[in-house]
Amino acid sequence: MSTSLQQLVIETFQQRFGSAPSAVVRAPGRVNLIGEHTDYNDGFVLPMAIDRASWIALRPRKDGRVTIFSQSHNESAEFDLAKMTKNPHHWSEYVKGTAWALQEAGLKLNGWDGVTGCDVPLGAGLSSSASFEMAVARAFEVTSGFTWDPAKMALLGQKAENKWVGVNCGIMDQMISAAGKKGHALLIDCRSLAHQLVPLPPKTVVVILDTATRRGLVGSAYNERRAQCEAAAKFFGVKALRDVSVAQFNAKASQLDETTSKRARHVVTEDERTAQAAVAMRAGDAKTLGKLMDASHESLKNDFEVTNDALNVIVECARHGKGCIGARMTGAGFGGCAVALVEENVAENFTKTVAADYEKATKLKPSLYVCHPSNGAEIVR
Ligand code: GLA
Repeated sequence: MSTSLQQLVIETFQQRFGSAPSAVVRAPGRVNLIGEHTDYNDGFVLPMAIDRASWIALRPRKDGRVTIFSQSHNESAEFDLAKMTKNPHHWSEYVKGTAWALQEAGLKLNGWDGVTGCDVPLGAGLSSSASFEMAVARAFEVTSGFTWDPAKMALLGQKAENKWVGVNCGIMDQMISAAGKKGHALLIDCRSLAHQLVPLPPKTVVVILDTATRRGLVGSAYNERRAQCEAAAKFFGVKALRDVSVAQFNAKASQLDETTSKRARHVVTEDERTAQAAVAMRAGDAKTLGKLMDASHESLKNDFEVTNDALNVIVECARHGKGCIGARMTGAGFGGCAVALVEENVAENFTKTVAADYEKATKLKPSLYVCHPSNGAEIVR
């Protein structure tokens, strides 16, 4: 699918701008295997970059302007790097926001003509926006000649999203899109941004299960969870919940109100599960990883309360599917996708039977696909 999308942006570029692009860049979406709602608590996450991405075919310009045509929106946008204004809710805000953050960091940017296309489903919780930000950053790297530092680029992408687009996300999505590696997931310490490659257990694949229900991340529930976590960290007298161990939590939890206590319990236990998951993966222990994923879902459902009926149903269907090793919601929650670890030799059949079971239970048509860990943002040619 991606190869044809690459061809499509190249051909469209040729048609619109009269000659071949001088460069092509891509940056992937992501699926998080475990470590949910821990990134903004300075904790640990274990996502992988997926084989679906934002692509840009481009050519430098000399006049400090950016013009970009989006295949997904069938629309062009254009702006001057020296005079950018906000146009709320427009897809091109990700381009401007990223340019703004790079310039704020002191980088001198040159403009470009580009054509972009994306096969990360939009709004599904697979980080299409982070993938677009990191592709745009790579495009500016090509035309402006700075050095790619994944953590720095991820932080600037996050700044674009927080300050320009107005979405209060953590660092996970940009970081995995910037730093992912083929064949691996990444254990990321969201405080130091140190990251380590972690292989998938042998003979397993990752299946994404899109419930066909959608969430609004800008929505208040995400910000409310962040505020509750901050309140809990304050209670424990630490910078972030990352600094509270499960034992420390248990010793004082009864002094917290019920909601704050549940939110904090999710975060401190999820950090522990994530560390254990990385150990299990390195040992090739799929069974333990699956159990940790199952426990993560229960914690997100009962303590963090960010699942919806569709996510709970699809996770149940997945767990009944032949070859399922573990399943959980993934991303912010409230809709979007779940993720399952499945035995490789039965994965295709798994996607069919689970899709049918889910459709029967909900009357919604899900999308299920086997996905493979891909490289992070890169200059393809
Ligand atoms: C969204 C945010 C991430 C992270 C997840 C929850 O995807 O963009 O930063 O907080 O939710 O783990």
